[in-house]
Amino acid sequence: MNWEVLQKGFKKEQITALENRFLVGNGYLGVRGALEEYTAEELPAVNLAGIFDQVGDAWREPINAPNGIYTYICVDGKTLLAQDGEMKEHEMRLDFRHGICHRKTVWKTERGEVTVTSERFADHENVHRIAMRYTVRADFHAEVELFTGIDGHMWEINGPHFDSLAGRCENGRLVMEGVTHEKGATVCVEETVRADFPKESKTEEADRRLMHHFSLVTEKDRDYTIEKAIVVFTSQDDDFSKAQADELLDSFEREGYEAAKRVQEASWEEIWKYGAVEIDGDEDAMKALNYSLYHLQSIAPRHAKSMSIPARGLSGQTYKGAVFWDTEMFILDYFLFTRPAVAHTLLRYRVDTLSGAIKKAKDYGLDGAFYAWESQEGGYDACSDYNVTDVFTGRPMRTFFKDKQIHISAAIVYGIMRYTKITGDDSLLKEGGLKTVIECAKFYYSLLLKRVAGTEYELHDVIGPDEYHERVNNNGYTNRMAKMTLQSAADILNNLDSYGKDAAESISALYPVKELAGKFADAAENLYIPEPGDDNVIEQFDGYRKLEDCSIDTVRSRLLHEKEYWGGAYGVATHTQVIKQADVVAMLNLYSDEYPPEVLKANWDYYEPRTEHGSSLSASMYAMLACKCGMPQKAYPFFIKSAKADLVEGGKEWAGLIYIGGTHPAAAGGAYMIAVEGFGGVSFAENGIRVNPRLPGDWSGMRFYVCSGGERYYVNISGEDVKVEKID
Ligand code: BGC
Repeated sequence: MNWEVLQKGFKKEQITALENRFLVGNGYLGVRGALEEYTAEELPAVNLAGIFDQVGDAWREPINAPNGIYTYICVDGKTLLAQDGEMKEHEMRLDFRHGICHRKTVWKTERGEVTVTSERFADHENVHRIAMRYTVRADFHAEVELFTGIDGHMWEINGPHFDSLAGRCENGRLVMEGVTHEKGATVCVEETVRADFPKESKTEEADRRLMHHFSLVTEKDRDYTIEKAIVVFTSQDDDFSKAQADELLDSFEREGYEAAKRVQEASWEEIWKYGAVEIDGDEDAMKALNYSLYHLQSIAPRHAKSMSIPARGLSGQTYKGAVFWDTEMFILDYFLFTRPAVAHTLLRYRVDTLSGAIKKAKDYGLDGAFYAWESQEGGYDACSDYNVTDVFTGRPMRTFFKDKQIHISAAIVYGIMRYTKITGDDSLLKEGGLKTVIECAKFYYSLLLKRVAGTEYELHDVIGPDEYHERVNNNGYTNRMAKMTLQSAADILNNLDSYGKDAAESISALYPVKELAGKFADAAENLYIPEPGDDNVIEQFDGYRKLEDCSIDTVRSRLLHEKEYWGGAYGVATHTQVIKQADVVAMLNLYSDEYPPEVLKANWDYYEPRTEHGSSLSASMYAMLACKCGMPQKAYPFFIKSAKADLVEGGKEWAGLIYIGGTHPAAAGGAYMIAVEGFGGVSFAENGIRVNPRLPGDWSGMRFYVCSGGERYYVNISGEDVKVEKID
């Protein structure tokens, strides 16, 4: 397979999309695929994981570090900038096998042609480091001024995040240090430059930019190359000091770009050894899928013990750098199946932010743990009460995502229980997970209602995954996930001894074990789950089917503005059956074994034409359920949509007037689930893995590795033939 994404030509309107497509990252930082000469206007970013800042009442968001990539040239007195669009040739290329982004640009100047080539990567061995190489060549004796340094004018949505930003030169290296507004954290960027020409430069500082300035008179057709390492660290890093930063720059000065690149390549080869999926008969699908996996690997917090993945990965500040249910329900499986240690890190983050969830529940007068809908550090909920801006009035609209999307706590329980079941490792449960599950169950328990004459418990005033219908009663997905949570907690409490003496004692010291187990079991048993109707369709929430039943096109035709929000109080979808994303279908996908095939199919058929797929999460749930209904052909376009979410244009970039562009890790994770669990038919049973493939049209085979119970298996599907081999 060709592990390359190539983009030839230049269009100004594609700049931001390409920055997402050509992103390189290593879990600690993400570098948007911006050209070196881009300034804040083009939205370049070195986006940092897990460090946030808030200015005034604006949204709290992750930090973009001062841009150490910043480099440009002047030839014969004219500054050559791609954004001016006057190039003769231009191409970008991503080697996604090794996480290396390349560019080549040719300008035609009055005296001849000037070519710039560059490449860069976010170092996977040393996650604080970015390495780059930048080459200029002219086919004439050109007067070239080469500027490279650190740009302190970052792209910031709700900044400025640095109250002070100071630059200095330290033994020929440039250093820029910012102090964040809210917490006074420091973010430091240091760089060093090697050159294959006599390296005499001036250092210039102006307007928050600190630059080396090289003046060259080039020989005809000779390459002039600089190699540059940029190290980023913050006062929030647990284990990284200035001395280590200096050592990373020293070693780069000694060994150079090529040596660092060889290590980078080897490190990615290790990743792909078990992390890639091979498909026979469909090169396009295989490439799109592995490109999605590239993105997941580029944002995996391998360097941390307790950290999660934001909804837009490390592609910028959209969605406030916050963690959503996307992680547990869409992204987790890839790591769980291929790199369980990363899955552990993702869930550890939830266990470690339990206190934030307990506080949130308390603030609503509820018991237990209500996880943040948009979780930042410490479990702080970044979701605002007014999360959408009305396009007509410019006023903030009251939304209830944060208050009512109670299914978030169940997603965390789902993730923890799934991790435990598939890995057979109960350490997460013993180290805080038991308490997490119990607190989430307490949360749902405190929300249960019973009608005066009723026998069943109900959950009212919620928002399901379909966000367009707010504050509904008995959303099927939510109720089923709450039931799972209550049942998981009851099982845990009834089997406390199986987690060892210490865990049993500490839980017994915290809770009235018997009493809670009884309450949770009763609640799980008697929580109302909407049943299939005469036509086998399950109503998404009470009264859903009484809403206007019209097509998506009809709803769309009623829009008065293309960016208008479809949900909430006045949305065009609100009083109709048109939904944003998989909801009942998401529930049936998770619990498909509880329903006969005709129910699964009837609901797929009913809901699909009524689903806008306005979230990139939706397609994978439809594809998964289609596979479980034995319809891999119907699943296929949804698979392609998920796998290509960051490879083709056309994704939703606006919610009302809020820019929500960036990469789509949940779609990438969804693509993996469809391939391996949907088409590959992998599932986990007590005694190991089961593989029951349902390959779509052209696919004649698949090969991949999956982990289960501490073992790794090689799965080789060839037509009807399935081989599963344990790997040593
Ligand atoms: C979706 C949510 C999702 C969030 C982040 C929203 O548009 O409706 O389900 O969690 O985006 O991806």
